[in-house]
Amino acid sequence: MNTSLQFTLNGVSVTLASAKDEDGHDRTLLDVLRNELGLKATRLGCGQGQCGACTVLQDSKAILACEVWMSDLTGANITTLEGLEHDGVPHALQAAFIDQQAAQCGFCTSGLIMRSAALLQHHEKPTRAQIEDALKDNLCRCGVHERVIQAVLLASGQDSSMSTSTSHQPTSKPFELG
Ligand code: FES
Ligand code: FES
Repeated sequence: MNTSLQFTLNGVSVTLASAKDEDGHDRTLLDVLRNELGLKATRLGCGQGQCGACTVLQDSKAILACEVWMSDLTGANITTLEGLEHDGVPHALQAAFIDQQAAQCGFCTSGLIMRSAALLQHHEKPTRAQIEDALKDNLCRCGVHERVIQAVLLASGQDSSMSTSTSHQPTSKPFELG
């Protein structure tokens, strides 16, 4: 039986006719965001919980939208990249990513910013090690890791130029920088 579902998305109450698709299968949050609500900032990468491209916030916690079923989100509070800015003013992370040019193709960027937003909600001024640990599961094929770390430091009001990297050596595993 299909039943409507209400949740909060980027501060606005949203009601879906059903958590399920026309075949009766539960839908993921990522499917609903991109294909029903038209919010394309949240990316479909692996679709299997392995890359972090689909990271969004549930309250202040980072979650993977490709792995979350809509039927589990009744009453939930979800924030996507589109919900970070306020009145046209970019979030500090968005401004810092631009300032530090912390993207190449940009496919991973939304997920990295959302994961960083969760980090800053728990650590106002995270250390470099905390940033590396928080972002270690968000893959970036373009290798902009160092600029992302600098951007998070900048967004948290820390002088990114003072950051000493222990990991300027190339790494074959994205974000395994330690
Ligand atoms: S698309 Fe969700 S983790 Fe890769
Ligand atoms: S900037 Fe291209 S995958 Fe990260």
